[in-house]
Amino acid sequence: MLNKQPIGIFDSGYGGLTVFRSIADQLPGYDYIYLGDNARAPYGNRSFKTIHEYTWECVQLLFEMGCPLVILACNTASSKALRTIQQQDLKNEDPSKRVLGVIRPTAEVIGNYTQTKQIGVLGTKGTVQSESYLIEINNFFPDVKVHQQACPLWVPLIENGESNQPGADYFVKKYLDQVLAQSDQIDTILLACTHYPLLQEKISAYLPAHIKVVPQGDIVAKSLKDYLERHPEMEHKFTRGGTQQFFTTSDDTADFDHHASIFFGEQVRSKYIPLK
Ligand code: DGL
Repeated sequence: MLNKQPIGIFDSGYGGLTVFRSIADQLPGYDYIYLGDNARAPYGNRSFKTIHEYTWECVQLLFEMGCPLVILACNTASSKALRTIQQQDLKNEDPSKRVLGVIRPTAEVIGNYTQTKQIGVLGTKGTVQSESYLIEINNFFPDVKVHQQACPLWVPLIENGESNQPGADYFVKKYLDQVLAQSDQIDTILLACTHYPLLQEKISAYLPAHIKVVPQGDIVAKSLKDYLERHPEMEHKFTRGGTQQFFTTSDDTADFDHHASIFFGEQVRSKYIPLK
């Protein structure tokens, strides 16, 4: 495996596959390894310390599999672990490697979607509590007001295959009502959790027609493309075999493959990678 230098993509479980879908579409040809920490997912309600510890452990597994660069395709991990990994772990352990997240690339452009300068940001409890989106969007668009809303029941609904069922409607409407109650000027809703694109149809159905719903997969993929153009020294490291490998920390790979195929939009065949 080490004769390959793939791009590593990490998520707590399946959600990052919505981001990987966009990356694979926009940047075909590279070798990729996706790793989902399904044995310990979801991360959404966990502490900073635990999310950092789990994320760094998985990033190191991807490094060991030959990835010079890892994308944290998970908002919760990006908001709670990325800074420590970039500022401490990489410096101490392996300065030649890079780890990028999904929050900054999204924050860099999301202000361009709103006319009213009022955005609703929907995420896990962890992402919302970290205030990462508030801080980052404010850096790039100081005149944009961000209204955050945690939607803690959406990930379990999606993971249990309930996203298209009528029972999901109650919780979709509940959190949308809560974010819209914060301001009647919101014209853009950012899906700041990798799972939420699977609920996008229902989300759009419960919102007034003038409100745009923005998933982040294509934004992150475009940003990665730009990053590789600006960093040829990194881009030249990657091998271009066009392979996609999927690993999960759960020993139930059949279950992973079933769910992952829905998130990725094509058949996925995974391998089990035990945690140390
Ligand atoms: N992938 C996570 C995110 O984007 C959601 C799932 C989890 O809570 O682990 O925030």
